[in-house]
Amino acid sequence: MDQGLYKKSIQTILASQSEWGSYVASPFFPTYQYCWLRDGSYIAHAMDTAGEYESASAFFNWVGQTIQRFSYKVEEARLRLSAGLPLGKDDLLHTRFTLDGEEVYIDNTWGNFQIDGYGTWLWALNDHVKRSGDYGILQKLKDPIETTLRYLELTWKLPNYDCWEEHPEYLHTYSLSTVFAGFHAAGEMIRSGKLEIKNIAADVLAKEVRKFILDSAVKNGRLVKYFCPPSVNSVSHLIGNDGVDASLMAVAIPYQMFLPDDPIMLATIKAIEEDLFRIDGGVYRYKADVYYGGGEWILLTAWLGWYYVSIKQFDKAQAICQWIESQADENGWLAEQVSDHALHPEHYAPWVKKWGPVANPLTWSHAMYVILTNAINQGL
Ligand code: BGC
Repeated sequence: MDQGLYKKSIQTILASQSEWGSYVASPFFPTYQYCWLRDGSYIAHAMDTAGEYESASAFFNWVGQTIQRFSYKVEEARLRLSAGLPLGKDDLLHTRFTLDGEEVYIDNTWGNFQIDGYGTWLWALNDHVKRSGDYGILQKLKDPIETTLRYLELTWKLPNYDCWEEHPEYLHTYSLSTVFAGFHAAGEMIRSGKLEIKNIAADVLAKEVRKFILDSAVKNGRLVKYFCPPSVNSVSHLIGNDGVDASLMAVAIPYQMFLPDDPIMLATIKAIEEDLFRIDGGVYRYKADVYYGGGEWILLTAWLGWYYVSIKQFDKAQAICQWIESQADENGWLAEQVSDHALHPEHYAPWVKKWGPVANPLTWSHAMYVILTNAINQGL
């Protein structure tokens, strides 16, 4: 492990945390001047693995306040859905917020409806409590936890944007694994006796989501990236996209909807290794990725290392860790993606023209490096 890069990563994360507790996705990339629940939850988790509980706790408190600010939307959305009325793009909870917790309206084409961050924060919060022993935070965050559960219960079968903010017309296996983990985490928090939430059967919901994935998202023995939502009165609905997406690793690690050595997971990882992992290099998001030409993503590469740790293939995890370390720039920063071996290089320049150079540093990249390093060191 490169002690220098590890320390630099913690510093970069701390420097990216606002006075309100939110983490900026990338401090210098204009389009990422916000806090995404998705990125932020992994960043907080990284800080928990590093024993930086105060930082993680500040983030969870920020999430709680932010969710409560917009919690009125959940009941309104429920009423609209039960009256058969359509939902507008801002009728649901957003995926990203300004650092002080307001909704972002700068680009009204942005796909705000992404459910995954809502599952991820519950998962990360539960893990935080177990590591830090700070059960008191559950009492404090009882209302936003409950709001999140009601929101996920209402929305998990609705098509929404995936974790790459694409394909709003589908249901996404990755996103549903976060929902599974969120319900499962809530079940655990409730069973611990430190959180009292009535009328939401979190464990039952977790089981339903898992069954739904088994019935809908497994094709040729492995997981698919996305699939069509069930149509009313139809069960033979779920013909999905065959392409594999690197985000599917999350189904095993950390969410454990399927265990890392489950045959479905082994087949899924094999497809990811074959299609998306450049030997001695990094991991791509998916084959058709054209964002900045579709480079190798640091955070996904770390994720594969994290998976290898979970199946005790430490040599592979170490090799990945070293590759990531070799990608840090002269400032000790890890970018979002590395473009030298892009899948579709002709798409690189148009993105630079549109939004400037690739986001660097990306706080989430540093977070995943921290998570991987601690997983290797702690053997989990
Ligand atoms: C990625 C998202 C991420 C966001 C901020 C987007 O380009 O697709 O997964 O949350 O950047 O880092």
